[in-house]
Amino acid sequence: MTTNETSDVSLSPDAGRQMKSVHRQMWALGDYHRFAASTVWQLGPVLVEACGVSAGQRVLDVAAGSGNVAIRAAIRGATVVASDLTTANFAAGMRAAAAAGVALEWREADAEALPFKDGEFDVVTSCFGAMFAPDHRATANELLRVCRPGGTIGMMNFTPGGTGGEFFELLGRYAPPPPPGVLPPVLWGREQHVQSLFGDGVASLDLRRNEYIETAASVRGYCELFQETFGPMVAIRASLAGQPDRLAALDREFFEFVARWNRGTPERVEIPYEYLLVIARRR
Ligand SMILES: C[S@@+](CC[C@H](N)C(=O)[O-])C[C@H]1O[C@@H](n2cnc3c(N)ncnc32)[C@H](O)[C@@H]1O
Repeated sequence: MTTNETSDVSLSPDAGRQMKSVHRQMWALGDYHRFAASTVWQLGPVLVEACGVSAGQRVLDVAAGSGNVAIRAAIRGATVVASDLTTANFAAGMRAAAAAGVALEWREADAEALPFKDGEFDVVTSCFGAMFAPDHRATANELLRVCRPGGTIGMMNFTPGGTGGEFFELLGRYAPPPPPGVLPPVLWGREQHVQSLFGDGVASLDLRRNEYIETAASVRGYCELFQETFGPMVAIRASLAGQPDRLAALDREFFEFVARWNRGTPERVEIPYEYLLVIARRR
């Protein structure tokens, strides 16, 4: 995976459609809610707080997964739509929402073509979600379009240089190459890229690099969590079933990656992830 900010080749509509069909299946593999609950679940309230979500607001969470941000916005009293390309994780999200005593709407939606009216939402959020849609510009335009003038767009995006960037680079070396014209998702973690995508569609753009920590009881346990629950890892490992040497190399590299980034101890693994917190005010 490279981190070029632009591509000389533009993504063809057919290639984009095909990629999204692969993504829809890939994110349904494993057990996304178990994965999220053990890793990124701590960030939903952080994004909701950073966006200043309050009771009575209408909030759209894009690429919501099982509702990490959406459920937390609903707990604050907002009227929330959780949208995602992959509907397979909604059932787990509905159970988590019911356990939290809130109700929200769950809608199938591609971040590049959101099925909502112009300016329909006060706040539009996406935590490590919209960054995965292949057409970055179309995605940025849609986030802007559905947010009302003066409203807030809040995103969390992995940065290219951090653990997330290295993790997706590692996975990318074992996956089929993406079609020409696809930009790496982690470009959404680079300030200049976000500035260029939102352009004069925003009145202000607050960009901050932050860090959060994923924990586990052992390096092996952390690796097993990904191998059992994280859709992209499950898909790539399944595609290597007929190549045991390559599968073993992926598992070994991933184990080494986790051991190298571990800032804790062998008994309490702590992996730091850098992300770009994006808070934009719609012009
Ligand atoms: C890492 S998960 C993040 C989910 C959630 N935001 C969270 O914090 O747990 C990435 C999500 O992006 C979704 N996704 C990928 N491409 C998408 C697209 N083009 N449109 C909408 N959702 C997409 C996947 O289905 C998946 O649920």
